[in-house]
Amino acid sequence: MIKWENRFSVNVSIIDEQHKFFILIMNKVVVAKNEENKHEKISDALNEMTAYALSHFKSEEAYMLDLDYPEYQQHKEEHKEFLKTTVGFCRRVMNKENNIIDDLCEFLEQWLVEHIQGTDKRFTECFNENGIV
Ligand SMILES: [Fe+2]
Repeated sequence: MIKWENRFSVNVSIIDEQHKFFILIMNKVVVAKNEENKHEKISDALNEMTAYALSHFKSEEAYMLDLDYPEYQQHKEEHKEFLKTTVGFCRRVMNKENNIIDDLCEFLEQWLVEHIQGTDKRFTECFNENGIV
C-alpha cells in the first residue's frame, strides 16, 4: 500500500488533492494483487485509474496552458506516455497474463517518484507565483 506523505506535495492544494485520490486508486491495484479474481479486480482498478488520470491530466494541463508554462509540451508528453503504458497494461490484463501485477506496481511507483515528485514539482513555482497555491 502506498501512503500519502508530505514529501509528495507539489505545494498546490488542488493538485495535491487530486494526487491523493490518484494514490487511492493506485492502492486498489496493489490490493487486487491478493484477491482471488484478481484479473477482474485489476481490470476494474485500471479502468478507474485511466478515467481519473485523463481528468487529472486535463486539469494540470489547463493550468499550464493558462499560465503559459514553458515546459507544457514535455509535461504533456509524459502524461501521454502514461496513458499509452496504461492501455498496454489493460491489454495484458484482458489476456490474463501472469506477472503483470508486479510490473504494474513497479510502473506506478516509478510514476510517483519520477513524475509526481519530479516533473510535477517543476510547475510549483510558476503556479504559486500566479496565485495557485
Ligand atoms: Fe503531471
